[in-house]
Amino acid sequence: MVSVSSALNLADLQGNILRGYGKQYVRHLVLSVASSAAARRWLFDATSGDEGAAPQITNAEPWDERRRTCVNIGITQTGLAALGVSPSSLNSFPHEFVAGMAARNMLLGDTGPSDPSNWKEEWRGEGVDLMISVYADDAADRSATADRILATRGAFGLRAALDGEGFAGGLVHFGYRDSISQPQFYGVHDPDDRRDDQPFVEVGAMLLGHATPIENLRWEVPQPNVLGSNGSFNAFRVLEQQVAEFEDFLSACADALIKNPLSETLLPPGTENQWDPPMSRHAALREMVAAKMLGRWRNGVPLALAPTTPSPQPRIDDAGLNNYGYASDPDGQRCPIGSHMRRSNPRDAKTVQRNTNHARRLIRRGIPYGPQYNPSNPVKAERGLLGSFMCASLTGQFEAIQYDWTNLGLQDPRITGSNDPVLGNNDPLFSLFSFPVGEDAVKFRGFSRFVHTRGGAYLFQPSISAIRYLAALSGGRTSNAR
Ligand code: HEM
Repeated sequence: MVSVSSALNLADLQGNILRGYGKQYVRHLVLSVASSAAARRWLFDATSGDEGAAPQITNAEPWDERRRTCVNIGITQTGLAALGVSPSSLNSFPHEFVAGMAARNMLLGDTGPSDPSNWKEEWRGEGVDLMISVYADDAADRSATADRILATRGAFGLRAALDGEGFAGGLVHFGYRDSISQPQFYGVHDPDDRRDDQPFVEVGAMLLGHATPIENLRWEVPQPNVLGSNGSFNAFRVLEQQVAEFEDFLSACADALIKNPLSETLLPPGTENQWDPPMSRHAALREMVAAKMLGRWRNGVPLALAPTTPSPQPRIDDAGLNNYGYASDPDGQRCPIGSHMRRSNPRDAKTVQRNTNHARRLIRRGIPYGPQYNPSNPVKAERGLLGSFMCASLTGQFEAIQYDWTNLGLQDPRITGSNDPVLGNNDPLFSLFSFPVGEDAVKFRGFSRFVHTRGGAYLFQPSISAIRYLAALSGGRTSNAR
């Protein structure tokens, strides 16, 4: 599966970027630097190869599958300054990273309930300096490793410990199966043992200092080279999901659809009896709306391959779930142009900015937080996604997707002005989700946003040699957690 070109030194890369760990438990420690010297000492210990000195930051070498916990680190611009990075070096980082996620809120659709002034306490104000993430197969190992990190004398101030836990079947809140589509990279993944038939992308879409998919242009590497090279960025987002509202919306759409003659073309009557399990007409139309909003049925089967059933025959196995494009569905009759997935990755569809089709790829490492929603016992609780969206350029990839494609629909004039129905910053006054049915279209209006941003940060994920470089700096902040 992984066959690395000699240009890439996996031992120098943090481990969760090009390949996920598949661990069920995560704890993200949101930290401030209490003492620069003590924090740098921890960075030194955590890359020393000595597990006894500190839990080691996991690199990207093919790891021992029995490794029980993995540790990674992301640092904000205030964190880099606190560790002693010079102003001129900080200045060489991209503008949006230096500004920070909260300052970019208008571009990200973080307004109203998602406005940074409504974020959770730990994300507000100064002092989000770094995030150390612990991934484990069980909750006890996660706690043990996280506690060791927090016990480091004088190094960090704890702002929050955010726990995520994977659900059975790879589901996330809203009930969809996630983590099916991830980019594969030239020089990393084996073209003779591909995960799916999607085009490979240049590794510079993820790592600084390498050729990117945009006509082989390179993103500028923050200086000095040892700090910037082989690093990447992570847009970390705490995304609260309004699950009950989402489910109510599906019901309201099914109520409307069942009276709409177009539903007979959308889902020929009786089709739902062939589903596995068979469903009532109303329940099937609910599922159809959920699929049209995302681009996949909730079990992961793509609309592009199975437009009228989540249980096609012959069955699509896991390996086939990502083998499709949109070129043969130019109008979105099967998979709506405005659906979450087609917006986020238009694949081979015609787009206004044609050269960006495969250039804005993201690695997504998300995990749910909060209790799984049970419609027969709908407990009120905060629940959502701890989402890591990784890339080489926050503006060129993450923000471009979130702004141009998600919030504005600029990729295709037919959806321009509408917002992503699952994720977007929707307001009942203007919201519109529309998809074609033959020559006509189904339109739903008047819905609110189902995802509220509750916090987040732009993090730089340095290479291992960059972490050692940081460990050897001097100056920075000397005392007191902020
Ligand atoms: C709570 C918020 C979100 C939920 C519930 C969600 C859910 C999903 C699901 C279920 C999939 C399909 C699974 C797969 O193919 O792997 C998906 C795909 C995807 N999502 Fe999200 N997502 C969320 C936020 C975001 C954000 C913030 C972005 C980026 C700005 C994003 C970008 C993508 C991309 C790029 C894909 C893959 C599309 C493809 O390759 O075809 N998602 N999402």
